[in-house]
Amino acid sequence: MFDAEKFIQESMEGIREQVGEGSAIIALSGGVDSATAAILMHQAIGRHLVAVFVDHGFMRKGEPEEIERIFGDELGMNIVSLDVKERFYSALKGVTDPEEKRKVIGELFIRVFEEEAEKMKAEYLVQGTIAPDWIESMGGIKSHHNVAGLPSGMQLKLVEPLRDIYKDEVRKVARELGLPKEISERMPFPGPGLAVRILGEATPEKVSIVREANAIVEEEIQRAGLEPWQALAVLLGEKTVGVKGDIRDYGYTVAVRAVESVDAMTAVAMEMPWSTLKTIQKRVTREIPGVTRVLYDITDKPPATIEFE
Ligand code: XMP
Repeated sequence: MFDAEKFIQESMEGIREQVGEGSAIIALSGGVDSATAAILMHQAIGRHLVAVFVDHGFMRKGEPEEIERIFGDELGMNIVSLDVKERFYSALKGVTDPEEKRKVIGELFIRVFEEEAEKMKAEYLVQGTIAPDWIESMGGIKSHHNVAGLPSGMQLKLVEPLRDIYKDEVRKVARELGLPKEISERMPFPGPGLAVRILGEATPEKVSIVREANAIVEEEIQRAGLEPWQALAVLLGEKTVGVKGDIRDYGYTVAVRAVESVDAMTAVAMEMPWSTLKTIQKRVTREIPGVTRVLYDITDKPPATIEFE
């Protein structure tokens, strides 16, 4: 049985030993992993940690504001916000391959970070990598950007306090550290964000469509009192035929996915109530111009992964 209190104590000692009086920076993504790593580091080394929030433009709706409120105002962390959306959008122009997207985002992320670290004279980069991230990366399934995207010439030394634990254990640690429920119980969200929820090129127009769709999915799941491991919306690449009034209308297709899982290594498609699915379908097609079709993914993992890319 995992003992969160013991884990926290041992990691604090490990962190203090590794980092000492050095200065560290961490990327906050809003996800439970980076939040837990950040608060653990904050408690271990206090003012020696700076939390950098990189708004790469692929965050969920309202997420940037929420991150500043929770970590800055409520938890009192030293936080720096960077709006670098345009840099990411232009780096991803014409990039359609999922692994290439992860690589481009991962590398730019680190570059933005290194620039910030240099300004702050930080020596350590803290990451919320958890066990399945590097296990799946090693197996060649997906290169989670916080594992495989690091350029070999990176100057910063890595600190990964959650490297050996799994998501359910991370949540236990988060609760034990007193992180608010919005964070500790938050659904997992990939580092490259909405960019890997758009099949093909992640243009700003498509990002805003999938962001709205994803928000509707999360809202309706919550309204229905459902607690999947993860629920998400994906924007499929090609337009299909639809109808508006009496005329043919080509529109985008949004796929909805909700899964039950313990550690994301395997997952089962959730038996979502039909009424919730219908509400999602109606809202997505009415509220988001350009979307004419909504699908629900009934595939387990394996054979499918949780994300589409
Ligand atoms: P898959 O799609 O591989 O997802 O079944 C398993 C879990 O990992 C998340 N995921 C990622 N997380 N960077 C991340 O930080 C990534 O590139 C990435 N790809 C997938 C996914 O959301 C799920 O929780």
